[in-house]
Amino acid sequence: MAEKSWVRMVTAQTPTNIAVIKYWGKRDETLILPVNDSISVTLDPAHLCTTTTVAVSPSFDQDRMWLNGKEISLSGGRYQNCLREIRAQACDVEDEEKGIKIAKKDWENLHVHVASYNNFPTAAGLASSAAGFACLVFALAKLMNAKEDNSELSAIARQGSGSACRSLFGGFVKWIMGKAEDGSDSLAVQLVDEKHWDELVIIIAVVSSRQKETSSTTGMRDSVETSLLLQHRAKVAYTFDAGPNAVLIAHNRKAATQLLQKLLFYFPPSSDADLNSYVIGDKSILKDAGIEDMKDVEALSPPPEIKNAQRSKGDVSYFICTKPGRGPVLLSDESQALLHPETGLPK
Ligand code: ADE
Repeated sequence: MAEKSWVRMVTAQTPTNIAVIKYWGKRDETLILPVNDSISVTLDPAHLCTTTTVAVSPSFDQDRMWLNGKEISLSGGRYQNCLREIRAQACDVEDEEKGIKIAKKDWENLHVHVASYNNFPTAAGLASSAAGFACLVFALAKLMNAKEDNSELSAIARQGSGSACRSLFGGFVKWIMGKAEDGSDSLAVQLVDEKHWDELVIIIAVVSSRQKETSSTTGMRDSVETSLLLQHRAKVAYTFDAGPNAVLIAHNRKAATQLLQKLLFYFPPSSDADLNSYVIGDKSILKDAGIEDMKDVEALSPPPEIKNAQRSKGDVSYFICTKPGRGPVLLSDESQALLHPETGLPK
């Protein structure tokens, strides 16, 4: 009689992160080894995160993945490297309740299904692959009962996307560049957790796709020549991801409130946008800033020392207000799984 088929599933949620000391340049393109250490802040997964369900079943005949509801190919080197490395760490699994037993040696012949969902636009340039690969590796490690800790898993996630290694921890995270040729010591460690600096507010300006491309050199020159705000920039720290979105870090809520007022003055939403979808994430900062509707945005005024201030309507698609957040977690509630518990196919 044919063995009764089963599906074993694990769902995880993983944050994204933004580097404040940048990773910029690789010394090994395949292993994704950087030329310098980097330090990031993990962003609150309530506002920006990836949820991934991984499943294994003897009835699956190939590895498959769905990203934001669409099937994608897993044949790329980065996915293959992560799958190979995590399979090599797989251990015996026994789930008495479901009557599932998987021996360590079985894993090389078993296939997995992966469904992943980013709660923010993948195309927005917000390091979705960082949260994505961290979540993939973390979820597979739990599915396969791998014994590695999060730092060891980070060295596997790194091979999917460099900055993914830093998404295995909450708070402030350092990616140690390492020295070993095989990359085994190029991994992430947590410096302090998300409670360490809990007053910090991070505002991300997701720029409109209409935005023109400007080289850094030209941009810097123009800023020096024309920006009346340049001298004030030490009000607030800022950074950019590999994309064009500005990430502004205010040291406390008061500074964040003043910053948001200025941002909404200079970059008001286009006439047809509504405030609720223009400022997303932690909307309480909007409230602290005394801005409840579009009339309040219209009534904002420039800093008194600035003459002839120009407002640039529609250049920013939306703002995300967020804060430092926690690292990966497992979601045990089956209703949060993205794959069907019986078929292992997307729900
Ligand atoms: N690239 C972008 N988003 C991703 C995700 N959620 N999982 C894997 N790769 C990704």
